[in-house]
Amino acid sequence: MQNKFLSLLKSNKDAVIITSPENRRYFTGFNSSDGFLVITNNEAVFFTDSRYIEAAQNQITACKSVLLKRVSETISPYLKEKGVENIILETERLTVAELNNLKKVFGFCKVEANEELDSLINSLRAVKTDEEIDYIKKAQSIAEDAFKHILKFIKVGVTEKEIALELDFYMLSHGAEAVSFETIAVSGKNSSMPHGVPTDKKIENGDFITMDFGAVYNGYHSDMTRTVIVGEPTKKQKEVYETVLKAQKEALAVLKAGISGVDADKTARDIIDAKGYKENFGHGLGHGVGVEIHESPNLSPYSKAILETGNVVTVEPGIYIPDEFGVRIEDMALITDDGYINLTSCEKELIIL
Ligand code: GLY
Ligand code: MN
Ligand code: MN
Repeated sequence: MQNKFLSLLKSNKDAVIITSPENRRYFTGFNSSDGFLVITNNEAVFFTDSRYIEAAQNQITACKSVLLKRVSETISPYLKEKGVENIILETERLTVAELNNLKKVFGFCKVEANEELDSLINSLRAVKTDEEIDYIKKAQSIAEDAFKHILKFIKVGVTEKEIALELDFYMLSHGAEAVSFETIAVSGKNSSMPHGVPTDKKIENGDFITMDFGAVYNGYHSDMTRTVIVGEPTKKQKEVYETVLKAQKEALAVLKAGISGVDADKTARDIIDAKGYKENFGHGLGHGVGVEIHESPNLSPYSKAILETGNVVTVEPGIYIPDEFGVRIEDMALITDDGYINLTSCEKELIIL
């Protein structure tokens, strides 16, 4: 594990301490609400308290696990014994209070939160291993089964909340350890809110229903969106749906290692703009998915990313017309040297229920 940090561990007096749950889990594979992963140039040690130590020692193979009592009584002596004089911490996930506290506890050292550490970890996390891809695929297959199930559940009279709960119940009772985020199920006029919250509104004939949901499997997330309709679509509903679908398919088609997040986004955005819906697609095209639902790389007009083989990204254009309706279609794609593999296999043509 230390190899991954060598560019930051400039001397044997340096230590990286990973404090965030997401990054602890990424490097150890172990889920815990508390703990410190301490990396020096000759050792990595996971310190965790009595609630987790037995499970950590049984499960973690990447490094050894040591019982944490108080940081000052366990980690400080360890660092002193190693001759550590400089501690590097994450910036993105550390609160100011936590940083101030760690500066006090490790008063014998220089302590700095360093953005370079976050960049390094974010770029490591962005390129998935085969094992990580398998977990994402499994998470996605649970979500797809839930989608097939929900198509039989949706009918006039059921509420948005019931649809969201049914999706969650299905995923959690079919192998998901959690849902990826608060499931979105919005219908009719509510579907113009990209991240609307499910309400007690009942489904009516002619409603678009946008469902955005995912499962977590072994710490890895999936993310998909489908918009379906109950009853026949109007001409405008059809036109908007077809525009989003075209934008989504064409953006997928340009994906491959080497393309920028800006260009991928622009491919979809140009199609939507050309149809006169420039103001109705406010969010970015997509994002990386992994141990977090949103991670690097980002696909948007402001992205700095160049896609790499092994990235898993979403492609999720939408058109949202306030007070009328909205449509979003979202797949997850695995980037390869010369294209992509779509990890989402559910139907994308408009499903009429
Ligand atoms: N609802 C999370 C996403 O699709 O990004
Ligand atoms: Mn989503
Ligand atoms: Mn997404």
